[in-house]
Amino acid sequence: MQTSQTDPLLEPFSTARLTFKNRMVHAPTTMNMSDDRGYVTRQTVGAYEALAAGGFGAVCVGATCVRWDGLINERMLGFYDDTYIISQRELVEVIHNNDALAGIQLFYGGLIPGVGATFPLEPGKGWIPGTVSWGPSGKYPIGNQQPGVVPTETYRELVEAYAQAARRAKEAGYDYVSFHFCHGSLPHVTLSLLENQGRNDEYSDRFLFCEQILQRTQELCGKDFPLIPRLVCDENFVGGYDLDYFIEHYAPRLHALGIDALDCTFGSMLPAQSRDPEVSSGEVIGGGFYVPNLVALPYIKRMREGLAARGIAMPLMGSCNINTPEQMRAMVGDGAADFFASCRQSLDDPDFPRKITEGREEEIRKSTRTGASLLAGNIFGKGVAGSAQNAAFSRDREYRLVPTLQPKKVLIAGGGSGGMEYAITARQIGHDVTLYEKGGELGGVMAWAGNYRTLPNMEQIAYQPDWHKLMIAKLGVDVRLNTEVTADLVLAEKPDIVVVATGAVPALPDVAGLDAALASGFARTIDRVLREGPETLPEGPIVVWGSGEGIELALDLARAGRQVRLLDAAERFVPAAYIGSRSKAVLNWAGKAGLETEQGVRLEDVGNGSLRIVKDGKAEALACAALVVAPGRTAHDPLSQALRGSGITVQRVGDARTPRSYGNAIHEAAYLVRHI
Ligand SMILES: Cc1cc2nc3c(=O)[nH]c(=O)nc-3n(C[C@H](O)[C@H](O)[C@H](O)COP(=O)(O)O)c2cc1C
Ligand code: SF4
Repeated sequence: MQTSQTDPLLEPFSTARLTFKNRMVHAPTTMNMSDDRGYVTRQTVGAYEALAAGGFGAVCVGATCVRWDGLINERMLGFYDDTYIISQRELVEVIHNNDALAGIQLFYGGLIPGVGATFPLEPGKGWIPGTVSWGPSGKYPIGNQQPGVVPTETYRELVEAYAQAARRAKEAGYDYVSFHFCHGSLPHVTLSLLENQGRNDEYSDRFLFCEQILQRTQELCGKDFPLIPRLVCDENFVGGYDLDYFIEHYAPRLHALGIDALDCTFGSMLPAQSRDPEVSSGEVIGGGFYVPNLVALPYIKRMREGLAARGIAMPLMGSCNINTPEQMRAMVGDGAADFFASCRQSLDDPDFPRKITEGREEEIRKSTRTGASLLAGNIFGKGVAGSAQNAAFSRDREYRLVPTLQPKKVLIAGGGSGGMEYAITARQIGHDVTLYEKGGELGGVMAWAGNYRTLPNMEQIAYQPDWHKLMIAKLGVDVRLNTEVTADLVLAEKPDIVVVATGAVPALPDVAGLDAALASGFARTIDRVLREGPETLPEGPIVVWGSGEGIELALDLARAGRQVRLLDAAERFVPAAYIGSRSKAVLNWAGKAGLETEQGVRLEDVGNGSLRIVKDGKAEALACAALVVAPGRTAHDPLSQALRGSGITVQRVGDARTPRSYGNAIHEAAYLVRHI
C-alpha cells in the first residue's frame, strides 16, 4: 500500500485556474433522475451528495442538455433558461460541502436521440417527443436510420445555447464546465471525418462548432472561467480521425483557447468499421466487459508525447475500465494522465477515494462492471444510473443506516450475494445475526461464475463476493459453514426473522437417461463444471446443452482449442440475462472461434458417452466425452414452505424468490433489511 506522501493519487494538482485536492474525479454520468422538465430532484441531489462525500477531488455533474430537442433520456438534466439555476445550486452546494470541485457537463444530442427507440421513428426524429436526430451529413445514422442534416442557422443557435447554459452554470456556482464533445453528440460528429462530409457552409471546418462554443462561453463567462471539455481523441474507425490527426489539427486549437484540462475519450457510437478488429469503437466508450482494463492508457501516453513534441502543455484526464487502485495509479503515473475519471467504479463504491485517502483501500468494493443497467434498463432508454453492487446509490438519505434500539435475532440461510448483503447490513444496524451456508464456502454463484480460462476480465465477477466476505469478517458476523438450515434448526434457534437466500438450482429437463448420466459423471451441470473449472472436463469432444446459459462456457472451450457443440431446444438464441450487454461481443467472438449456436435441436436421450438429438427433423447420434447441461435455473426454497404456519417471519431474497441477476439479490436484501 502507498503512503499519503508517495501516493500519486493523493497529490494535489493545479491547472491554470483550479486546484484539485487529489487526482480522482467522478466522470460525467447522466443519471436520468431529473424531473420531467430537467430540473434537479431529491434523487439527483442524493446521488451527487454520495459521490461528493466519497472524497473525489472533483465531481462532474453528468450530461446536461442545452436545448430541448437534443435530449437522450426523458429525465436528463437541462439548463434551458435561468429558472434552472436555483435547483442546480443544490447540486453545487452538496458538492462544495464535501470539499470537492463542482463541474457540470453540457450536452446536445445530435444523432444520439435516435437511439433507444422501441418503435419505428419518423425521419429526423428522436425517440422522445420533440427531439431530433440529425448530424452534419446524416450519412452515419445512430438509431434512427433516416436522420436529418443540421442547418447552418441551427449550428449558430446551438453555439449560443451552449454558452448561455455555461453562463448559468457559472451563476449556479460551478467551478468549471465540461462539454460533451464525444461519443456521438453533435459536436463530436461534427469533428468526425466520417460524418462531417460534403457540407458547403463554414461547418465544413470540423472544429469550428466546438471552437465557437468555447469562445462564446468565454465571452459570457470571462476568459478565466475554467473549461474542461471532453473530446474523442481517436475515433477508432477505418477512415475516422486518429490520435495523430487529433494532435495535429484539433489539439493546437483547443490549446489556443486556454482550456484548463482535456478530458480524453477514445471511441464513438457512429456505425462504422472499427480500426481494431478485436475491440469495437463503441466498446471503448463505456468499456465493454471484455475490453482490457486501462484501455485508454496507451492512447493517453501517446497523446502526452505527441503534445510535448508540439510544445503543447495541457493537463490530461483519462478514464475507462479503471477499477483497482493499481489501475488508478497507472493512469496517473509517469507520462500518463494528470487525473483519472471513473464512472462505474464511482457508482459501485462512491467512497473509494476516501478509502484510499484513509489507508483502507482493501475495503474498496471493486466494480464488477456488470449491472448498472441490467437492473434499471438502458440509460439511452428509460433506465436510471445505478449499481448492482451498491443498492444505496442515489438513495443514500433513505438508506442511511440507523442503529436499532430493538435488536432482533436474524437467521440467514444461504451465503450468496443476497444472504451476505443482508448479514452485513443487519449487523451494521445492530441486529444479532447468524449466517448459515450449506457448502464449505461463502460466495454463492458469483464465487465461481467467472471461472473461465480464455475470456478476459472474468475474475472481476468475484470482486463482489470477495468484498462481501471481507466485510463479513471485519464485522465479525457469526458464520456457520457446512450447515443446511432445516425447519428443525430454525425452530430450535427461535429467531425473530428467517431470511431465505438459498439461491437457485439448474432446471434440469426431463430427458431419458439424464439422471443416470449425471450420476455417472458423463453429464455435468454447468454449475459443477464452473465450480471445478472447465479444465477438469475429460479429453475429447464436448456438447453443451443450453445456449443461453452455456454460450460463454462453450466459447471458452472453443477458444481453448476444444471441440465443442452448443445445442438448444429454442428456435432462437436468447442469452441469459446476466450476459447482458456483452452478448453482442459473445456472439462476435463465437463467430470468430467458429462456434455456432445450433437452435431448435431436441435432446431425445442421453446414454453413457453418447446422445441422441433431433435436428431439422432428422435423428442424429452424437458421441462425446462429456455433456454439459446449462438449462437455466429454478428457485430453490424448501424452507419457506416448511416454516409456513410456524409464526416466524420469513423473508426471501434473490434467486430463492425468482432466478435473476445477483444485483436483484443485493437490492432486495438491502431493502428488506432496512425494514426489519
Ligand atoms: C450510466 C452511465 C452514464 C454515463 N453518462 C455519461 C455522460 O453523461 N457524459 C459522458 O461524457 N459520459 C458518460 N458515460 C461514460 C462514462 O463517463 C465513462 O467514460 C465510461 O463509463 C467509462 O468509464 P468507466 O469504466 O469508469 O465506467 C456514462 C456511462 C454510464 C455507465
Ligand atoms: S449493465 Fe451492462 S450495459 Fe449497463 S453499464 Fe453494465 S455492462 Fe454496461
